[in-house]
Amino acid sequence: MKRKKYIVGNWKMFKTSETAYNDFSVLQNSLDIYREEHESKSMFHVGICAPFVFLQQLTDLNSNIHIYSQNVFWEQEGAFTGEISIPMLKSINVDGSLVAHSERRQYFHETNVDSGKKLKALLANNLHAIYCVGESLQEREAGQVESVIEKQLEEALEICKDEINQLFEINSNNSDNSEFLNCLPFSIAYEPVWAIGTGKAATVQDAYNVHVFIRKIMTKIFNADIAQRTRILYGGSVKTTNAHEFLANEEIDGALVGGASLNPNEFFKICLAAE
Ligand code: PGA
Repeated sequence: MKRKKYIVGNWKMFKTSETAYNDFSVLQNSLDIYREEHESKSMFHVGICAPFVFLQQLTDLNSNIHIYSQNVFWEQEGAFTGEISIPMLKSINVDGSLVAHSERRQYFHETNVDSGKKLKALLANNLHAIYCVGESLQEREAGQVESVIEKQLEEALEICKDEINQLFEINSNNSDNSEFLNCLPFSIAYEPVWAIGTGKAATVQDAYNVHVFIRKIMTKIFNADIAQRTRILYGGSVKTTNAHEFLANEEIDGALVGGASLNPNEFFKICLAAE
């Protein structure tokens, strides 16, 4: 069975309230029209990771697009000035959060252990999580791709192991007779740091190799079933011109799109590349 492709836009620190609303509405409208015309064969899910301050206006639109924050704090509440909690996100119907985007690791010094705590809190509270991993150019040139990614996975997933196992137990009972695997509300995004925002995407072969490796580590930490039900997205300079070749690969379960998600028409074309 196949995994349904997942196309997720990451708006980073862009847009204003007005452009967020307008651009999201354009995307939603294009997707609605497309789905009406092709209902039976929609092969993808769509998500948008928006800045905190725009989340409520987007969830109020009640669309089929999953709404994610770009970060979250693991404590339920308390004296943590400037942080946003999971109950806050839930209270405005947010679906989930990105965790450990490389810009959070690089500029805000987030560690694998921090990421594990965030993943644990999200999954325990029934929110989706997308955990980002990826090597720097220096690490790639030093031949350390696998060791870096293995460490990012092991250190974080050790902390939320029980929650992922529980999700699997709940999800494995829900068979909806579809042609698609029932994937977990936990995805991994492989984003090589040197490919993010540089216009220099990884090759499909590079991405494929790392995705196979990630699935091998997931099998080692959990089991083959959990590994099969975890979507692994590729991110890093995905555009309309290369989306199709990434998404055609059966080990690449979707895309995490930064720059090219800012324009709703361009992002919609990337979604269609999943068909
Ligand atoms: P990019 O960003 O598509 O602009 O390279 C990807 C990301 O940071 O998620």
